[in-house]
Amino acid sequence: MTSDYVSNMYVELVKEIRKEVTIPLAVKIGPYFSSLPNVAKRLAEAGANALVFFNRFYQPDFDLDNLEVVPHINLSTSSTLLLRLRWVAILYGRIPIDFAITGGVHTAEDVVKSMMAGAKVAMMTSALLKFGIPHLSTVLKKLEQWLNEHEYDSIEIMQGSMSQKSVNEPAAFERANYMHALTRYTAGS
Ligand SMILES: Cc1cc2nc3c(=O)[nH]c(=O)nc-3n(C[C@H](O)[C@H](O)[C@H](O)COP(=O)(O)O)c2cc1C
Repeated sequence: MTSDYVSNMYVELVKEIRKEVTIPLAVKIGPYFSSLPNVAKRLAEAGANALVFFNRFYQPDFDLDNLEVVPHINLSTSSTLLLRLRWVAILYGRIPIDFAITGGVHTAEDVVKSMMAGAKVAMMTSALLKFGIPHLSTVLKKLEQWLNEHEYDSIEIMQGSMSQKSVNEPAAFERANYMHALTRYTAGS
């Protein structure tokens, strides 16, 4: 299949579902499209009300002793969040639908980052598997604490405040900035 064929399948599926249901339609996508912004735009035009960034594809591991492919549940860490933050920050304000982030949301700070990138929703799975359901109350408490300490009256105020359109240095989201990061790298940092 060509990349065009694959993205058309998603778009056609969303169009079909949109015809059948009137409830809000959120589409969870993976990060591996050839042109993610184009696919996101086309899904919005096809009738999606929201996009969820991103599906974590199931990745089986190899058992080297038995030479078998083995099922593997790989829980995320907060570093998984960065790919989501980048894409939501880039697309915020450019595609007129809502965004949710799933993948790497473990702490209150991760929720704040997700909101600042431009998401309306931050979802949590691995952290709840790791720490149990009460972790949700801890995150909520710490989030309220963070908002108070930093004098934010609401979540809405911060939404999109770190998006590419809002920051002073939009190039910070682009690949050229990698060189800058490498030249500043010091061992052990
Ligand atoms: C055990 C397990 C089962 C999951 N089942 C589904 C599923 O049925 N449908 C789905 O869209 N995502 C599923 N996910 C993905 C999660 O919804 C979530 O997007 C992903 O784990 C990334 O978020 P996290 O970093 O908070 O774990 C599952 C994840 C785990 C760990």
